[in-house]
Amino acid sequence: MDISIQFNVTTASEQEIIVVGAFQKKTTKGKKEEKSAITSTWPKEYQITYKELNTGHHFDGSAGQSYSFDFDGQRILAIGLGEKSKLNDEGLRKAIANMLKSQHKTVSSIGINLDTMLVKGGLERTAYLVTESLVLTNYLCHDYKTAPNPIKLEGVTLETKTKKSAGKKAEAAVDSAIKVADSVNLCRDLVNAPPNELHSESYAKRIEADVKKNLKRVKVKILGKPELKKEKMGMFLSVNSASNYQPRLVHLTYTPAKKTKNTKHIAFVGKGLTFDSGGYSLKPSKSMVNMKFDMGGSATVYAAFRAAVLLELPVQISCFLGMTDNAVNNQATYPDSIVTARNGKTVEILNTDAEGRLVLGDVLSYASDLKPNAIIDAATLTGACLVALGTEVCGLMGNDEKLKDKLEKAAKATDEYIWQLPIIQEWRDDMKSPIADLQNIGKSGFGGTAKAAAFLENFVGEGISWAHLDIAGCGDSQSHLPYCPSKGGSGIMVRTLVEYLKSV
Ligand code: BES
Ligand code: MG
Ligand code: ZN
Repeated sequence: MDISIQFNVTTASEQEIIVVGAFQKKTTKGKKEEKSAITSTWPKEYQITYKELNTGHHFDGSAGQSYSFDFDGQRILAIGLGEKSKLNDEGLRKAIANMLKSQHKTVSSIGINLDTMLVKGGLERTAYLVTESLVLTNYLCHDYKTAPNPIKLEGVTLETKTKKSAGKKAEAAVDSAIKVADSVNLCRDLVNAPPNELHSESYAKRIEADVKKNLKRVKVKILGKPELKKEKMGMFLSVNSASNYQPRLVHLTYTPAKKTKNTKHIAFVGKGLTFDSGGYSLKPSKSMVNMKFDMGGSATVYAAFRAAVLLELPVQISCFLGMTDNAVNNQATYPDSIVTARNGKTVEILNTDAEGRLVLGDVLSYASDLKPNAIIDAATLTGACLVALGTEVCGLMGNDEKLKDKLEKAAKATDEYIWQLPIIQEWRDDMKSPIADLQNIGKSGFGGTAKAAAFLENFVGEGISWAHLDIAGCGDSQSHLPYCPSKGGSGIMVRTLVEYLKSV
């Protein structure tokens, strides 16, 4: 789908349909409250035609309503946006998403009249949100179907009467929104890839190829088994021990064009389990299905990194993706094994299904060596996170209030849900082993999400700010959001992380 913005547009447009927004006005006649659609923002000719037709229909500009009519051989689709004072960013995203879904299989070109749907922030913000929603909504994972892609839509033009000379910022907003939303869609593609196709070796190659093709100023380093052995990553290697594939630690470095001594350095760490069978602590069959998505954390941080590089943000960013699968064979790690982590701590593995923290722990220690200003990791780490926060909300934990505040603000600004869980001393103690320094599961099954974070904390270098995002719930299947697929990778938290990087 091609998206472009056109300035100086009055009525004439070559698109198959023209979308106009309609806010709602409430008036009281005597005791009765009447609702009606505000059409004064529309081109005059549409208003006249609409008034002539204005009998026998119930379109009143309520959010979610739509009404279409013909004007001069063209179809005009009015979409209800509710009261203007109540329309926020998410309301516009949803209105555009629902409109697109009702059209993209049957219509090949759409014009959207931006002037009729302005949110706070004006044309620039409106252009950004509309573009973002279009790209996110138009995503359909049909790579594995033999039937042709059902989407007919080829192009959307965002139309405004603003003059081109005054529209520079709106044009740039469209461009930025495409960069971010395309990266979200790449995250979804990676999560949706089946484990027989996407394993540690092919995953690392795919990331490297994407960097080479699309990104500038990024250095790629890939560590394999011999390098992980040299790094003494005993936890990471124990997870990989039964795999058919070599482990991969992908290390990406982005250096902005203008780097000064004040340039901040942020490190991302992502869990990249291309499949999690549980190992000897085997998952029951029903829980094992969909464990291809256990690399979602790495796809999320990579997508955010990628968007930031495309936007040329003035931050140094390191990105570490720990890739392996968690399999079972005669080489698999036995429960009761004790391994030594990269930072020298000994860990008793009581459950081989608590494998993500083992991989992340060694990668967090590796990332800490660079002494970044902050480390943020993302992982589909615990089933307990679904119990605590459902499928809609991302779990947030960490050791630095300011960093967590910034992430909360970034989530709010992008309308993604995030909620903090505490790491208390009792849970740190619960992760101590009677025989080794640590054990990889708690002694009681409660509080599993933050106990996993309490485990990870042991591998973050002294004095380094760190935050942990548990995306086990929100990483896929966001059926409540019209711009997210109801099944499969969601890409939730990519936009939050990009927003965070803008605030650094
Ligand atoms: N990848 C899973 C977490 C998960 C489970 C994500 C279900 C989404 C849905 C992780 O590796 C895991 O298996 N965690 C265990 C930890 C337990 C053994 C302490 C879990 O949550 O059951
Ligand atoms: Mg597991
Ligand atoms: Zn896992």
